Amino acid sequence: MTVIRSQLIGTGYKLPEKVLTNDDLSKMVDTSDEWISTRTGIKSRHIAAQDELTSDLSYEASLMAIKNAKIQNQDIDFVIVATVTPDNTFPATAAKLAKKLELKPGTPAMDVNAACSGFVYATQIADNMIRLGEIKTALVIGAETLSKITDWTDRNTCVLFGDGAGAVILQGAECEGKNTDTGILATKIYADGNQYEHLYSDSGVSLNQKAGFIHMDGKEVFKIAIPSLVQGVEESLKIAGVQISDVDWYVPHQANLRIIDSVAKKLEIDMDKVIVTVDHHGNTSAASIPLALAETFEKGKFKKGDLIAISAMGAGFTWGGIVVRL
Ligand code: ACO
Repeated sequence: MTVIRSQLIGTGYKLPEKVLTNDDLSKMVDTSDEWISTRTGIKSRHIAAQDELTSDLSYEASLMAIKNAKIQNQDIDFVIVATVTPDNTFPATAAKLAKKLELKPGTPAMDVNAACSGFVYATQIADNMIRLGEIKTALVIGAETLSKITDWTDRNTCVLFGDGAGAVILQGAECEGKNTDTGILATKIYADGNQYEHLYSDSGVSLNQKAGFIHMDGKEVFKIAIPSLVQGVEESLKIAGVQISDVDWYVPHQANLRIIDSVAKKLEIDMDKVIVTVDHHGNTSAASIPLALAETFEKGKFKKGDLIAISAMGAGFTWGGIVVRL
């Protein structure tokens, strides 16, 4: 029986010009390249300029994705931006982006806040709309300017985060309905609000009319991140009807190299098949997976037919996975 599946037809990314190294950070807070590298695997991260907004990074990433997908802006039927650092409290950053991209009048545009799992959540929403036949082509973005909610005097958090945006174009196409099809074969999302206090911004519009700074219980996040990232892969593989041994590439949320290493071991997937960008991006929350996808495409590593497993975990807690064949 034929089915519609969302094909990943183009990716793009944008990183701010400014690079902040661990040595730069060691002049700002009591830390060192050695401490940051061994605990996290991060060497440097990009930092947005004061007047460089989440919508600006999203726009540049979108233009690259649209070009790579060989479509026109007017072919896009839906735009969704995953972010915890929107330009404004409202309207959605996606609405501003739709205007900048001069999308067709009436094109639906929305943001989603699922922290570091935002891209997985946004992809599930877009994929479901495509499979239902509501839309044909979606622009899905993960974009953050986390530097603007980072307390640059707090060494526990300021060494971890970075800014950037990644964009993907999904387009529906008829497939045979088999696990050998190209396109998104599965998405799965989860949340557990009981973990709210382990990773959060200390402020908010309703709370005190501020954006606040990131706070995190690093040890607790570390512990829960590993089984959550594993579950995101295992459950989406099950839905897709494929095995871990079929996977060509694993693209995890890029928070910490030690977390990625542990997850790869538990999944029994060789590190040669794991995409790592945390060393030069830091943790860019919702942007980390589409950034990693787009950068790896640009390097020419991915080939037609490759099976990619993706999983993310973040504040909420939220977590989930995607399985897609190119
Ligand atoms: N430089 C030097 N020393 C530091 C720094 C720093 N930047 N930050 C903390 N320390 C100190 C602490 O104060 C502590 O000192 P003390 O023993 O005198 O009190 C010591 O280093 C050890 O701190 P721990 O918190 O025990 O260090 P740990 O080994 O747990 O590593 C880390 C901390 C890297 C945050 C780790 O817990 C971690 O990676 N957690 C995962 C969290 C994560 O990646 N979050 C990202 C967001 S969530 C997500 O994206 C899924």
